Amino acid sequence: MIRSDDLHADIGEILLTEEAIRTRTAELGAQVAADYAGRALTLVSVLKGSLPFMADLMREIPLPLRIDLMEVSSYGGTATESSGLVRIIKDLSASIAGEDVLLVEDIIDTGLTLNYLVRYLRGKSPASLRICTLLDKPARRLVDLPVDYVGFEIPDQFVVGYGLDYGERYRNLRFVGVLRPEVYAPPAE
Ligand code: IMP
Repeated sequence: MIRSDDLHADIGEILLTEEAIRTRTAELGAQVAADYAGRALTLVSVLKGSLPFMADLMREIPLPLRIDLMEVSSYGGTATESSGLVRIIKDLSASIAGEDVLLVEDIIDTGLTLNYLVRYLRGKSPASLRICTLLDKPARRLVDLPVDYVGFEIPDQFVVGYGLDYGERYRNLRFVGVLRPEVYAPPAE
């Protein structure tokens, strides 16, 4: 298979510019800061896709807070479809019992991964648990979950960049773009 080494060449359309992401992240941070003032906030993010969003969002929240990181992988699906079967690769490093937890996600697609994580985290007895996602694809939702903070609603397209990958590539793009379909569905030979 021939693949371009130029990451940008595989992008059909830039959906969210670096500037748009920065502006919206600052708005979300201000909203979170107002909502959690005086509380024991812990941000929990899910590697690897949420890494840039978490790093930027936490710096927009001028409150004393803790962070923790989990890593999960879904299995049984395909490179572009989640199966809902989730494996924990890295667990929380500290207890969240009694903490106000904000789960920071990169994207909610079917919601299956998040559904698993919410159940898992609720089992750890936090004082509260809310969800913040940079991107939401509501058209694809299979499980109904209340999402408290949404950066952007996006159409049903496979996107990469700003943490999001296809085959572990494109995470380092500064923007969110639509991957050209021929990259993941090459034309038959
Ligand atoms: P869900 O379980 O279907 O909600 O999928 C959630 C996970 O699938 C995300 O955390 C991403 O890792 C991945 N994912 C879903 N949609 C996209 C996309 O458009 N681009 C890159 N990864 C995606």
